Amino acid sequence: MDDHQAELARTRDFFAVRAADWEERFPDDGPRYAQAVVALAPAPGSVVLDAGCGTGRALPALREAVGERGTVLGIDLTPEMLQQAARLGRDAVATLLVGDCGRLPLGDRVVDTVFAAGLITHLPEPAANLAELARITRPGGRLALFHPVGRAALAARHGRALTPDDLRAEPNLRPLLAGSGWRLTDYLDQDDRFLALAGRVD
Ligand SMILES: C[S@@+](CC[C@H](N)C(=O)[O-])C[C@H]1O[C@@H](n2cnc3c(N)ncnc32)[C@H](O)[C@@H]1O
Repeated sequence: MDDHQAELARTRDFFAVRAADWEERFPDDGPRYAQAVVALAPAPGSVVLDAGCGTGRALPALREAVGERGTVLGIDLTPEMLQQAARLGRDAVATLLVGDCGRLPLGDRVVDTVFAAGLITHLPEPAANLAELARITRPGGRLALFHPVGRAALAARHGRALTPDDLRAEPNLRPLLAGSGWRLTDYLDQDDRFLALAGRVD
């Protein structure tokens, strides 16, 4: 197993044991997913991917946004997260696939909107992985990087200090996105949510 595969395996192991009670850990976070989807506003009838969907907290809101004619895909590296998503009935509103955001099982420019909650800091190669998300997104498509609490609140949850090299700090995120096929259009980092919106550059 090479270093990259070993890192993915560590991530999978980390989330596998947390899948069963993932949504009980911070239950107040739940409603904020629907608010983020409203801000992202995927078009009715469009194709939306929840990248690193976990137990699928955003999937019902994504389905509501795109409607019956739309397509909702949820992809996650950790089978146990998707099994929990199915237990919670999220497989009724989305197609769930085990997969790596670094190598998505999708063609070029097939997705209109990508929603990614809590994902980016777990990616082994953020620039390459964001470029892979750009590859599967049509020009003009949109990306939301979301977390139900802001950077400072998340650091406090994990008992660590916020450092300037934080990937999601605006001065770091903007060039990271620009180098990966995205243009940052909106950036919000407050206690009750982190939401960065970007557009796919042609
Ligand atoms: C912090 S959890 C967030 C889950 C869900 N989006 C939520 O907000 O509840 C991060 C998720 O990303 C998944 N993940 C991490 N690296 C991934 C990768 N390279 N490809 C796909 N999923 C990945 C993990 O398995 C985990 O389910």
